[in-house]
Amino acid sequence: MADLRNNFVGIKSPNPFWLASAPPTDKAYNVERAFKAGWGGVVWKTLGEEGPPVVNVNGPRYGAIWGADRRLLGLNNIELITDRDLYTNLREMKQVKMNWPDRALVASIMVPCEENAWKAILPLVEETGADGIELNFGCPHGMSERGMGSAVGQVPEYIEMVVRWCKQYTRMPVITKLTPNITDIRKPARAAKAGGTDAVSLINTINSIVSVDLDNFAPNPTVGGKGSHGGYCGPAVKPIALNMVAEIARDPETYGLPISGIGGITTWRDAAEFLALGAGNVQVCTAAMTYGFKIVQEMITGLSDWMDAKGHRSLDDIIGRAVPNVSDWQYLNLNYIAKAHIDQDACIKCGRCHIACEDTSHQAITNMIDGVRHFEVMEEECVGCNLCVNVCPVENCITMVGLEPGELDKRTGKVVDPNYANWTTHPNNPMARQAAE
Ligand SMILES: Cc1cc2nc3c(=O)[nH]c(=O)nc-3n(C[C@H](O)[C@H](O)[C@H](O)COP(=O)(O)O)c2cc1C
Repeated sequence: MADLRNNFVGIKSPNPFWLASAPPTDKAYNVERAFKAGWGGVVWKTLGEEGPPVVNVNGPRYGAIWGADRRLLGLNNIELITDRDLYTNLREMKQVKMNWPDRALVASIMVPCEENAWKAILPLVEETGADGIELNFGCPHGMSERGMGSAVGQVPEYIEMVVRWCKQYTRMPVITKLTPNITDIRKPARAAKAGGTDAVSLINTINSIVSVDLDNFAPNPTVGGKGSHGGYCGPAVKPIALNMVAEIARDPETYGLPISGIGGITTWRDAAEFLALGAGNVQVCTAAMTYGFKIVQEMITGLSDWMDAKGHRSLDDIIGRAVPNVSDWQYLNLNYIAKAHIDQDACIKCGRCHIACEDTSHQAITNMIDGVRHFEVMEEECVGCNLCVNVCPVENCITMVGLEPGELDKRTGKVVDPNYANWTTHPNNPMARQAAE
């Protein structure tokens, strides 16, 4: 059986699945049941400074995007950090940690960008027995207007400064949670590293307006006639999150910095992809809010079964395995040639591949042969773009088949370069030519 035990910056958990800081982790009642369901750890809903708690809107807080089957694809929220009293949270955290010593319990914190505010809260959190802290530099709404959350996360100098304070005033491991609402994610990650962070976690939510109520001309969710931008998350953000995780994992300046991967993780496969791109563990929010805590059981068995089938014995066998294969465009092998192939037995003759190719691509798919609807790839026109694969409603009906070295490319009339595997040094590779000059 694959070993799913996880050690993330010294924080141990029985599996790499943590719940991200959000409503699922905002009280002992939730966290206890999450642990019973099997979650390896939680990041408690973000704590604020001592004093009257923040006040949330009491109308709709969430908006969404759905697929045609009403499956939730993207969730948008305008919630703030915890609206429960700091000491109630701390008391509950301490109790939960005592009850569940083998699970990871990390405290998410967001206080004003002042040294004394951080210095004051850190010992209170430490006293709960929490395993670590996560600095919330990510929330894109409400708190950012008060100079916190993404208002800090968008200024690398502030990130470095706050991380430094935290490293100075606590012995707990520090995880810096990054906002994706920034052009180059490597810059805040580098700043966090310069401040001495033990790890980064990403992504927090993405600035968004999910839709507009056209009867009232206001963004959704509409609160008393007005709407505000909110934070977007769920399956729709996964590709953005994966790219940002990979960017940090392969940046020579942050190479080796532990990453907790977050964003749209719904299945074990999503989680495995984050791990392969360099995440040391993963955090989940929307999937738990959509399907409930027990979804972790499918994640655990799915990951474990896949690892067994592939002969991966521990998480170390997969973490970062895909990072060396993430390349800048300029290093891609231009001698590699693939052609689309349509499985005639699977084809339902809907014609979507033909329309897409004919109207917007390379006119490489037939629609009629001898007066009969028939969809077939004309290899002499196909550039291998993959659009037909993506628009075909039948999975695996159209596949891309790579030509072997020595085979004829009917489009160009040239034989596939027998030497194409050696692209790094190939004379057709502009990068290799540049290096030789
Ligand atoms: C309703 C809601 C509240 C959230 N509150 C917090 C929060 O208090 N602190 C925080 O760091 N992230 C918060 N998040 C962001 C999540 O922790 C997570 O980074 C984000 O939702 C992406 O993960 P997902 O796609 O699995 O949901 C919140 C997300 C949602 C949906």
